[in-house]
Amino acid sequence: MALATFLLVLSAIAGISSLEDAFLREISAARPRHQAEQMIRAMNLLPHVDDSAEDSSPELEMSVERLVERRVELGIKGDSESEVTVEDLGHHAGYFKLEGTHSARMFYFFFESRGNRSKDPLVLWMTGGPGCGSEVALFYENGPFHIAKNLSLYWNKYGWDKVSNIIFVDQPIGTGFSYSSDVRDIRHDEKGVSKDMYDFLEAFFKKHPEYADRDFYVTGESYAGHYIPAVATNIHDHNKKKDGITINLKGVAIGNGLTQPEIQYEAYGDYALEMKLINEDQYKKISKIYPVCSVAVKLCGEKGTVTCLAALLICQTIFQSILSIAGNINYYDIRKPCVGQLCYDFSAMEEFLNQDSTRVALGVRNRTFVSCNPVVHEAMLVDWMRNLEVGIPALLEDGIKLLVYAGEYDLICNWLGNSRWVTAMDWSGQQSYAEASWEDFSVDGETAGSVSGYGPLTFLKVHDAGHMVPMDQPKNSLEMISRWMKGDSLARGEEEMAMDEEAFLVETF
Ligand SMILES: *[C@@H]1O[C@H](CO)[C@@H](O)[C@H](O)[C@H]1NC(C)=O
Ligand SMILES: *[C@@H]1O[C@H](CO)[C@@H](O)[C@H](O)[C@H]1NC(C)=O
Ligand SMILES: *[C@@H]1O[C@H](CO)[C@@H](O)[C@H](O)[C@H]1NC(C)=O
Repeated sequence: MALATFLLVLSAIAGISSLEDAFLREISAARPRHQAEQMIRAMNLLPHVDDSAEDSSPELEMSVERLVERRVELGIKGDSESEVTVEDLGHHAGYFKLEGTHSARMFYFFFESRGNRSKDPLVLWMTGGPGCGSEVALFYENGPFHIAKNLSLYWNKYGWDKVSNIIFVDQPIGTGFSYSSDVRDIRHDEKGVSKDMYDFLEAFFKKHPEYADRDFYVTGESYAGHYIPAVATNIHDHNKKKDGITINLKGVAIGNGLTQPEIQYEAYGDYALEMKLINEDQYKKISKIYPVCSVAVKLCGEKGTVTCLAALLICQTIFQSILSIAGNINYYDIRKPCVGQLCYDFSAMEEFLNQDSTRVALGVRNRTFVSCNPVVHEAMLVDWMRNLEVGIPALLEDGIKLLVYAGEYDLICNWLGNSRWVTAMDWSGQQSYAEASWEDFSVDGETAGSVSGYGPLTFLKVHDAGHMVPMDQPKNSLEMISRWMKGDSLARGEEEMAMDEEAFLVETF
């Protein structure tokens, strides 16, 4: 069935009079060929210097290992709070030429731990979008440093590099500083995304064999709710088949993610009502869209294409309806107004990353950095409504930990929808998880969230935070990831447990 017909039928069933115009124009009109070049330019796929010139760079020329990495010295101010001197702290940036692509290079930052780098786990971070650079997290959330408005960098007291060796990757291809000169390297689904990530990791471990048997965690935010299960499943499958390098995958952590669209789109209305963004009447009207959205998502399944675009168009009207009622709210943090294109101001980072001195330090030459690339985003629209929850039970059954956390004031990937899909997930611990009690996530004796869990599964609702939890709750987010990786309880910190032990001693005496 042609997409247009399909949409008409579905919208007739739903009684939806006006589907999203912009989306319709974007998606249902076949993109004329002449637009392709424009698209490539917009995507920053074609390097500003021609490829031959680029390849003649001595560094890339000699890169038999396909990975070009350099130490970076970005002049970070303040106190690193590390026993290792700043000169000794390994901060790296690099490009990896992806073997399975036509001519793609993937950019990453790699920061050795400020804690104990020879013992701390290795963490991979992916920002969502799709199409937003992981630099967004690096500079504004959990990276080793933050950027001030005047472009000075300061050590982040709560960077996740305090307890881990952490890699921030710009992916899928075309995101951030990652690029290709061949349009065929654009990714449209998680198969492509996870294959590229696996290529990347194999090269990374070849370059850094000392990390090969280190505990490894896959983490990220937002659309990474799609990437993370796909990447982890791919790693786990390779491990099981003993195909390629063995990666010591211990767990995955999804922050305010989009993982199970059918459940999460239903939760929009309920969350919006609960947070008083809409009233009962509006809720009832919006709820009428959902049954059609649900049918469409089922048709999309795990592999659909046209049906998935249709599902996105239909389901997205739920979200758009809420926004049109709620006004100019920041849908990543409903307490705030939406300011600027991305609802947050990341201009300092963009300016910094586009300075000549920074580009030279990073080895990215004339590549222009954009926080979020709309073309990568569009190319992934067919992937949006696919259900990525399906791969997770197999990970849990094999003891790979899952942490799903969500800041309570985020609308777009709200905690309610996340909590629901986690509860609905079919695995051996489903019943026990459903019966598990909720406890306070406590940091230094203060309640920082609500946590529930069973076996390898943990769910955390983070208080006083929006979509970007490590930005809004830096200290608590570091506590969260640190305790979770160690296998400690999120409910109580070490101090509190020590106090409990004392109380226990007193009682038994
Ligand atoms: C780091 O961990 C290793 C391995 O457990 C240990 O031998 C070393 O002493 C630790 N270094 C520091 C500074 O704690
Ligand atoms: C840059 O901004 C920071 C934080 O606002 C401030 O502490 C610092 O003094 C500023 N540095 C310069 C060179 O202006
Ligand atoms: C590329 O960067 C160099 C310095 O890094 C600059 O001199 C040159 O003008 C840039 N070229 C383009 C086309 O932007």
